[in-house]
Amino acid sequence: MILHRRSGSTVQGKRMQRFKPGRIWTDDRNRPINAHGGGILYRTGTRTYYWFGEHKNEDGAELRFGEPSSPTEPADGGAHVYSSQDLYAWHDEGLALPVVRDDPAHDLARGCVFERPKVVRSPATGLYVMWFKLFRRGAGYEVCHTGTAVAASPAGPYRYHGKFLAGQSEAGAGDFALFQDDDGRTFHFCSRKPTHEVYAAELQDDCLAPRRPYVRVIAGDNFEAPAVFKRHGKYYMMGSHCTGWEPNPARCAVAEAPLGRWREIGNPCLGEGRERTFDAQVTYVLPVAGRPDAFVFLADRWRPECPAQGRYVWLPIAFEGEQPVVRWINEWDLGWFEGREAEGRRQEAEGRRQEAGGRRQKAGGRGG
Ligand code: GAL
Repeated sequence: MILHRRSGSTVQGKRMQRFKPGRIWTDDRNRPINAHGGGILYRTGTRTYYWFGEHKNEDGAELRFGEPSSPTEPADGGAHVYSSQDLYAWHDEGLALPVVRDDPAHDLARGCVFERPKVVRSPATGLYVMWFKLFRRGAGYEVCHTGTAVAASPAGPYRYHGKFLAGQSEAGAGDFALFQDDDGRTFHFCSRKPTHEVYAAELQDDCLAPRRPYVRVIAGDNFEAPAVFKRHGKYYMMGSHCTGWEPNPARCAVAEAPLGRWREIGNPCLGEGRERTFDAQVTYVLPVAGRPDAFVFLADRWRPECPAQGRYVWLPIAFEGEQPVVRWINEWDLGWFEGREAEGRRQEAEGRRQEAGGRRQKAGGRGG
């Protein structure tokens, strides 16, 4: 039998069905996926994942901290989007929101810093809403705006809506997470400048602005790259410390409610490389559709001198009790979760039993 090598994501005629953290990951046109600092939107109806991330220009370089404008080709080209049914093979859907090349006064003028796009669907309007970090062209890294854009279909094109300074800070806020709860309420968690404590607000129904003022949810400063998810009714936030493109130890916090009291529970990474998050920085935690206990830690291995060559580090999250744990794996696939799901269901049932037992004790007046 003659088997043909057809593209980077097919080997000997067979589609690749494995994640290979840190290795080059090509799309359906055999080009390296260009979606850094990304996030995923899942559409239930079409069972399709959309991966939005920073499109980094070939030959571009990141601004150096404190530099007002880049002498070289700017790094950021806007938001790039890919689609997939299985999370392994990605179809290039093109630029969902490109930077603006013909109007230097535009908020998104070429030369702006456009980072960490994330998309949610507003349950009220049915529209897709993209949020992103925006440093205006030539303005340096001091003040970070939060930008929004809107589209009628998930892959776009997105229309720029506007920008604001999040977190009630004159310097705005930087890295962020958008989290949509089971009841449709959507929250913006952001690293508020200049101290980088995490502030959060529930969004309006159209998902274009906060509904009420932001509240501080994590007092520990220098918290960046928040990524929020929910498991067994508890809310978790992965994140990083604040060292620019240089890797640092990841961090994790847990809460009973999105705007409740968050408790930091330490570095979720274990094993060799844990102090540098396996040379990466988290950007999103992906709940795998149809697998209640499967969450993937999505992180970026940045390359500021040649940002388009940055790599992706996707690793499965295990739970040891309620503690999320991320270990390095050279290659893996979604089958990794199978044994864990049964264990997760057992833990959840056990939790419910203990809760019910607690309630019975209280009702019986024997509670201490
Ligand atoms: C990181 C942040 C990135 C980028 C970088 C610039 O901490 O997470 O999105 O802004 O700093 O130095």
